[in-house]
Amino acid sequence: MCGIFGCILKEGNAAPVIHQALKRLEYRGYDSVGEATIHEGKLYIKKDSGKIDEVHKIHNLDDLPGKIGIGHTRWATHGAPLQVNAHPHLDCAGQIAVVHNGIIENFAELRLELENKGHVFVSKTDTEVLAHLIEEALKSNPFLNLADAVLDAVRKVEGSYAIAVISPKEPNKIICARNESPLVLGLSDSALYCASDIPAFLPLTNKTVIIEDGELAILSSEGFEIRKISDSSLVVREPKIVDWTPEMAVKQGYPHFMLKEIHEQPACLRNTLRLQEHYLDLMATFLDRAKEVFLVACGTSYHACLAASYMFSKLAYLATYPVIASEFMEQHGKSVNIDSTILAVSQSGETADTIAAVNVARQRAATVLGLTNVIGSTLTRISRVYISQQSGPEIGVAATKTFTSQLSVLAQLALRLAKKRGKISQDEMDFIEAKLKKLPDIVETVITTQEEKVKAIAKKYKDSKVFFFLGRGISTATAYEGRLKLMEIAYVPSIAFPAGESKHGPISLVEEGFPVVFVCPKDDTHKTAIGNIMEMKARGASIIAVIEEGDEEVKRLADDYVEIPKGVPDVLSPIPFVIPLQLLAYHMAVEKGYDPDKPRNLAKSVTVK
Ligand code: M6R
Repeated sequence: MCGIFGCILKEGNAAPVIHQALKRLEYRGYDSVGEATIHEGKLYIKKDSGKIDEVHKIHNLDDLPGKIGIGHTRWATHGAPLQVNAHPHLDCAGQIAVVHNGIIENFAELRLELENKGHVFVSKTDTEVLAHLIEEALKSNPFLNLADAVLDAVRKVEGSYAIAVISPKEPNKIICARNESPLVLGLSDSALYCASDIPAFLPLTNKTVIIEDGELAILSSEGFEIRKISDSSLVVREPKIVDWTPEMAVKQGYPHFMLKEIHEQPACLRNTLRLQEHYLDLMATFLDRAKEVFLVACGTSYHACLAASYMFSKLAYLATYPVIASEFMEQHGKSVNIDSTILAVSQSGETADTIAAVNVARQRAATVLGLTNVIGSTLTRISRVYISQQSGPEIGVAATKTFTSQLSVLAQLALRLAKKRGKISQDEMDFIEAKLKKLPDIVETVITTQEEKVKAIAKKYKDSKVFFFLGRGISTATAYEGRLKLMEIAYVPSIAFPAGESKHGPISLVEEGFPVVFVCPKDDTHKTAIGNIMEMKARGASIIAVIEEGDEEVKRLADDYVEIPKGVPDVLSPIPFVIPLQLLAYHMAVEKGYDPDKPRNLAKSVTVK
């Protein structure tokens, strides 16, 4: 997730306007920043890695000349946060500047084609291909205008994008286009704006036009025009007035970041399906060679590791050890050696316990692999290979979208490894891959159809003093995560364990009305899980079940239930099944009058041991 912005002013300098707009978009990414403007037929550009204020201090982002310009605040996906990878990106002649939010899936093929035609690339980004594609279009047909050249370029790319393009060849225009990444226009008497999000221009105008997927917009000093990318046909759309306060706008109308981030999960999951294949392959190769594999993380990321241990075992027949990072040294430190591989999972890439565990492993010559959301973080610097989970910045302290993204990446990794080891038939592989692709829609369905039900459940149980969260098999990880969410933001003491453990102790707590949340997909554990539900029910527990749609057996036993669409394979089930648990924690916190975005005593990134 990055932020893009562009403006054409009637009077004054664009650069300070771009700078302020990028500040308002900083929540979308903040590892690098850049601006480009046009003045008297020349392109001016400033960009660097670092937060906007840091870059401004060094480069003064306000002193570029010209009334027209574009800007970008970055959250790296392809290429480390270095000056060379910061946007805007240019073509060979330095005549076309592009800012982009999204992921170009076929960038490697396009780059090769363009390099074969003599284009010289300077960055590691996927975005740079766009600048060269536009240049190539103009070179091969000198009668094309800038908008047609951009049309030609975006028709060649696969993936997600919101882009803004300027060129001194047509100094009064900004061309922007969208597919699966947000793009809005802002209109005022004195200026035209384009941006990833309304907050960018909200203090300047509340008159907006939303650009839809598959559309291109041409902004000029005369106004704007929207065209369909597929056939260049004209689209007529009336502006709308938004009545959001700036605070509401940053949260896109949601009352809290946590809810916004829960709702962003379908989009994030789509992004995880755009990983660079060779990194997955490389990591799978390391895992395949390892004598022993430790999956090391803290908190929510540890729950992703726990789920991953089932995925690796079920799909690739690889036994792995999920370990809580703060215990790694004591539990395994001495046994780790050159044949060990550590897959460290950390959203922030900075968690002190995880980094400490990795450092112990490195000292003992083990191979370190990383999965993180922050390229440029410590974990990316100390890993032999790392994969970016591509969730975009998460502002709520409670991890939500970053958890489901981690699960999706880990599932893809397990599939790769299974293929490498010959442990999975092509049919099974195709089946699970097809289901993975459907998950964003399934998660969307869960959110849209079940949230009201979950809200009612939160209301009903808001005074309960303690909760159990139970699951069997891979659903144990889902249960642990549900418990963590409820504890950390709604402050409800909760206990989670594999349901089979009930009768070895915890069941003694159960009495009339004791709420027990069962994560109960229709997988191989279903029958036994029903037995566990009955045990709880017999002692007076109130059963809240997360079930597969149409699971009549559990519906009859449950006091309350929420349903997940049918047909999700067991290895992928934590992704949709955790959604109601995230929503339960969120609505419970709100019911109890707590701010879910700022849970007491917690920080987003825990950098002390
Ligand atoms: O950045 P990390 O993934 O390494 O963070 C690990 C935990 O601190 C984190 O997952 C924490 O448990 C969550 N914020 C809980 O929602």
